Amino acid sequence: MRQHKLALCKEHYLEWMPEQTERFIKKYDMFTHYEKILVAVSGGKDSLGLWDILVRLGYQADGLYLGLGIDEGINYSHESRRLAQKFADEHNLKLHIVDIEKEYGQPIPVLAEKSHRGYGKPCAVCGLAKRHEMNRVARDLGYDVLATGHNLDDEAAVLFGNTLSWASEFLLRQGPVLPSSDGLARKVKPLCRFYEREMTAYCMLRGIEYIYEECPFAEGSQSIYYKELLNQLETARPGAKLTFYLRFLEARKTGDLFIEQNIEQAHLHLCPKCRQPTSTDDLCSFCRMIEKVNATA
Ligand code: AMP
Ligand code: FES
Ligand code: ZN
Repeated sequence: MRQHKLALCKEHYLEWMPEQTERFIKKYDMFTHYEKILVAVSGGKDSLGLWDILVRLGYQADGLYLGLGIDEGINYSHESRRLAQKFADEHNLKLHIVDIEKEYGQPIPVLAEKSHRGYGKPCAVCGLAKRHEMNRVARDLGYDVLATGHNLDDEAAVLFGNTLSWASEFLLRQGPVLPSSDGLARKVKPLCRFYEREMTAYCMLRGIEYIYEECPFAEGSQSIYYKELLNQLETARPGAKLTFYLRFLEARKTGDLFIEQNIEQAHLHLCPKCRQPTSTDDLCSFCRMIEKVNATA
């Protein structure tokens, strides 16, 4: 793991992942051992890995699978449901299943088509339905918190997109915890500091069978494009993705983001030599540099 300057064997890696997750859960006050957690599981590596980690850490975590009715010639929904169920059965865990077509009369692709939302792609309607249903089930069944498997690659891509358009409202809401509010369950993303490939390695080493295919409608999406860009950056500068995300969280927490006052408040005074404003105590940085050069000459 070049980003952490760390190399671990299988045994230690499988201990390191839950330890790091527990740390992050505590750091951000996500939930306690007394609370009931609903994990949204898609059958992919992130959410199944998350469920596995939470159970290993001794949390009370049940699963929720949403049947979206996406086939596209690869039996996508059917296969992902089978793998989510398989994991639950093998670990003796409770999995709630909600089928969108059964609840609302049509599968996601048809709902998208009929509602004319999302420019010919079902992803917007799908995201809307997922958020709605996850929240409904969490609330109706009395769960304290809803956990999703978003990883660092997901979060960094969203942050990148929001930053490119300076979507301040979204930036202020993006984070590992979204507190509950009227009718909305608390939402947490305990994996948001793990790289996607760290989750792949975890599932492989734990022998968790997950669906390899991405949703067939995701092809060519903006978020995949941003992920590719960030991966190029990460290759050139290992750790850049993690820094990008964690520094954002820090800046948001301390309230340093978007506050004009911060600039005005910086105490500037005039450099005694050149009379240009500076934030240093005495000579400005330029004059100090020249002085030093002359002193050594
Ligand atoms: P995605 O929307 O595919 O980026 O997935 C983000 C997270 O949403 C996953 O890690 C899961 O926790 C959750 N999720 C996605 N699809 C489903 C699904 N069909 N059923 C339950 N949870 C899901
Ligand atoms: Fe919903 Fe692809 S359109 S997961
Ligand atoms: Zn000066």
